[in-house]
Amino acid sequence: MVSIEAAPIRVASMHGQRNSRVCDRIMSTTHALTATPIAGALGAEISGVSIADEHDAETIAWIRQALLDYQVIFFRDQKLTPDQQIRFSRRFGELEEHDFVKGLPEHPQIIRVVREADEETLNFGGAWHTDVTHQECPALGSVLYGLDVPRVGGDTLFANQYLAWDRLSTGMQRMLDGMTAVHTARGPFGPQGRSASNWKNMQVEPSEKALEEVTHPVVRVHPETGRKALFVNRTFTVRFTDMTEQESAPLLEYLFNHACREQFTCRFRWTPGAVAFWDNRCVLHYALNDYTGHRREMLRVAISGDRPR
Ligand code: SIN
Repeated sequence: MVSIEAAPIRVASMHGQRNSRVCDRIMSTTHALTATPIAGALGAEISGVSIADEHDAETIAWIRQALLDYQVIFFRDQKLTPDQQIRFSRRFGELEEHDFVKGLPEHPQIIRVVREADEETLNFGGAWHTDVTHQECPALGSVLYGLDVPRVGGDTLFANQYLAWDRLSTGMQRMLDGMTAVHTARGPFGPQGRSASNWKNMQVEPSEKALEEVTHPVVRVHPETGRKALFVNRTFTVRFTDMTEQESAPLLEYLFNHACREQFTCRFRWTPGAVAFWDNRCVLHYALNDYTGHRREMLRVAISGDRPR
């Protein structure tokens, strides 16, 4: 367990060693933030902070560093209004509205990710993905607040894409470095997309716009850490540039499966009021669909990101 109070303490976690980055900042005297890793690959629970409160720049810088060090961070027992969720998230960048999911009437930047107890279809986020990579500038990260979570089930899994890249052979890395791939939202949000038969209780608006395509590098360099991360995902990546979908499928399928190998993952068990904040530039996530008969409602905010390079 890592405790940060009045004096800098080197974090000896695997995450810190692997990233050569540590959350060892001196906190203001009023805060004592602690980062406790939850798995070997990524993820830490942060305690000692109520994110509903206003925070000084030092505290926000600490949280940002924890995000860079652990790729996904969690806060338990938070009590957030939509305004407070927006205020906290805005400390990390501009917020964006989802292209195909309508936000809350008074807070268009917040989408409701909800599945009612009687729904049996595919859940929203129920495939390994990075958020909104159909956009030229996919989100930097997302802040997900667990408003109504099942007593058991409905966990979210995360996968570290630095590790996914690092563990490829040098031959495969050499081949992929410099390759680009096409991403589109047509699978989930196109007129014939999955939203047509799923997510009945969400405000999803399928559209022709989802047929548009963008190109991203297959491996991206994280703009803050400088590390390389594999950057393809099953939801939005459809083919390599200048190749057909059929030609691309075998290698993409290999990469999709490789990207979420168990040793790259962590799994978060939701409790009421928990918050997950992931770095979308180096993390895949997956919402587990194992809670039919129970309601689950989350509020999600996405922070604007930059163009992957
Ligand atoms: C999402 O993919 O943004 C939703 C994740 C979740 O509901 O756990």
